[in-house]
Amino acid sequence: MQIPNHLAIIMDGNGRWAERRHLPRILGHRKGVEVVQSVVDECLVLGIRCLTLYAFSSENWGRPQDEVEALMSLLGSFLKKELRQLQKRGIRLMAIGELERLPDPISDVLREIMEETAGNDRMVLNLALSYGSRNELTRAVQQIGREVAAGKLQAADISEEMIANRLDTASLPDPDLLIRTSGEMRISNFMLWQAAYSELYFTDTLWPDFSREQLHLALQEYSLRQRRFGLVGAQLQKSSVQTTEENH
Ligand code: FPP
Repeated sequence: MQIPNHLAIIMDGNGRWAERRHLPRILGHRKGVEVVQSVVDECLVLGIRCLTLYAFSSENWGRPQDEVEALMSLLGSFLKKELRQLQKRGIRLMAIGELERLPDPISDVLREIMEETAGNDRMVLNLALSYGSRNELTRAVQQIGREVAAGKLQAADISEEMIANRLDTASLPDPDLLIRTSGEMRISNFMLWQAAYSELYFTDTLWPDFSREQLHLALQEYSLRQRRFGLVGAQLQKSSVQTTEENH
């Protein structure tokens, strides 16, 4: 089975999972956190090097205040509980998004865990928090604008690499596989730049029901995809033959 280097997941369907059981939505999010823990474990076992989870979008701030507060509180307790587990398993925690919008206690614990796990190199767990791709791109463009205004950069010299280096994901590879749960066929303002060549996988399963088996199904499908990056199949075969020959 082909294993993506970077797996990104839009975890959707917590609310519906709860509503179908006549439970408060927050119980769906709570179950969602349990699934996060089992998916992180399975990604480690599989040797995935980077896992990005879309945990809270820029748009999610507009949800009813009690749901926002409940999500922040779940996130806070997840972070506090997770530190020891992350250290034990060699996982580095990173985060993307407008982190300064998070409540102080959350951003403080987040910063602390990111610092403490900075030396771990088995896997990166990257949380997208208060994240929106258009917001991230806007901030990158503002940064470039400042550099041009200061005379450090010529407009004509702006390259794709320079843009990528000013995104929150600058130190991460692009996602190879992007999974979205709950049957919605949208990207919803997630990694619009970085997912340019990601393989997309949609499943009707709601996030709280997403299991290790479901993850394996997604990876099996990913293994069958031929990633051409805008080239034709024959070119890829040729370049893989060349790479093999070069390696001998
Ligand atoms: C989408 O479900 C999910 C979210 C908005 C939040 C995802 C958060 C978690 C899984 C828990 C916190 C995460 C971590 C990493 C601790 P939805 O509410 O949009 O579901 P719906 O579309 O069915 O209403």
